[in-house]
Amino acid sequence: MASNYQLSLYLGFFILSICATQSLGRKLQETSMSEMHEQWMAQHGRVYKDVIEKAQRLKIFKENVEFIESFNNAGEKPYKLSTNEFADLTNEEFRASRNGFRASGVSTTRTTSFMYENVTAVPSTMDWRKKGAVTPIKNQGECGCCWAFSAVAATEGITQIKTGKLISLSEQELVDCDTSGEDQGCGGGLMDDAFDFIKHNRGLTTEANYPYTGEDGTCNRKKSTNHAADINGHEDVTANSEEALLNAVANQPVSVAIDASGSAFQFYSSGVFTGDCGTELDHGVTAVGYGATSNGTKYWLVKNSWGTGWGEEGYIRMQRDVDSAEGICGIAMMASYPTA
Ligand SMILES: *[C@@H]1O[C@H](CO)[C@@H](O)[C@H](O)[C@H]1NC(C)=O
Ligand SMILES: *[C@@H]1O[C@H](CO)[C@@H](O)[C@H](O)[C@H]1NC(C)=O
Repeated sequence: MASNYQLSLYLGFFILSICATQSLGRKLQETSMSEMHEQWMAQHGRVYKDVIEKAQRLKIFKENVEFIESFNNAGEKPYKLSTNEFADLTNEEFRASRNGFRASGVSTTRTTSFMYENVTAVPSTMDWRKKGAVTPIKNQGECGCCWAFSAVAATEGITQIKTGKLISLSEQELVDCDTSGEDQGCGGGLMDDAFDFIKHNRGLTTEANYPYTGEDGTCNRKKSTNHAADINGHEDVTANSEEALLNAVANQPVSVAIDASGSAFQFYSSGVFTGDCGTELDHGVTAVGYGATSNGTKYWLVKNSWGTGWGEEGYIRMQRDVDSAEGICGIAMMASYPTA
């Protein structure tokens, strides 16, 4: 039989070894987190100005990785998150630099008539990429001109549908030259104002002729008059009706505004996005199709402008036919498309 002394020695050793394992575990975790950060930095070509900034970024990176891992481990949603190129940004920083849809002061109760309002038969699925009406994913970088990318993608779509030619068009022309309505380059804007500009400018030039720089610049008038595509104007889809939006997307790629402010959206990686999100519209994207997964979950196919590293090669599938009239993240609130 063990004496009390031996027992307490055992116990002491046992507790000590747990402590050692725990602190070792913590150390290993910290090391692996900073190693993960190093690898991530190399992968995304990230360089910090000094060790202080690096330490601050590591802290944010760690919090984001923990959020992403616990979200994925919980497995409660039909979509996954990943440690993408935005993993060292706080959600506030992310929203400030990547969105830029200026919904403030604009009425969202739009009930004008639009040309697809009486459409009754639509295909059960649509993917405008397969019809050759969608250019490759672009990247707006740290410039809040999502509105330009959204308007350009919709304009590229209708141009291909009308002419059979898919031409990549210039966002930079909108950033530099378009001052109509709310449009302020990297400071934000609206797709409808961009359509107005394109109409009054009598067209838009190509990406190749007026390439993207990712920052505000002076309008190059000469390039800006060398048109590759033009539109007659635009129409607004009846607000707060996913059925109306379906009629429109069945006929052409459509500019939509969404609330993309959440961390889950920031780190979205794959699957059907079901929120959480609100309806404070802050991001312009393009609905380029719709469909349903094998188990029947309906979705909108949405083209984003954050490069191919985000989401499903730059796209997101967002839940369709939700309970609220506004649609997921407000997708049915301010949809519009150019007419040609
Ligand atoms: C489809 O599957 C996902 C998980 O993969 C689940 O979250 C969702 O509820 C399912 N939908 C239906 C309609 O069964
Ligand atoms: C849709 O139908 C209504 C009712 O018949 C009609 O007033 C309206 O002009 C139609 N809209 C279009 C775009 O054809």
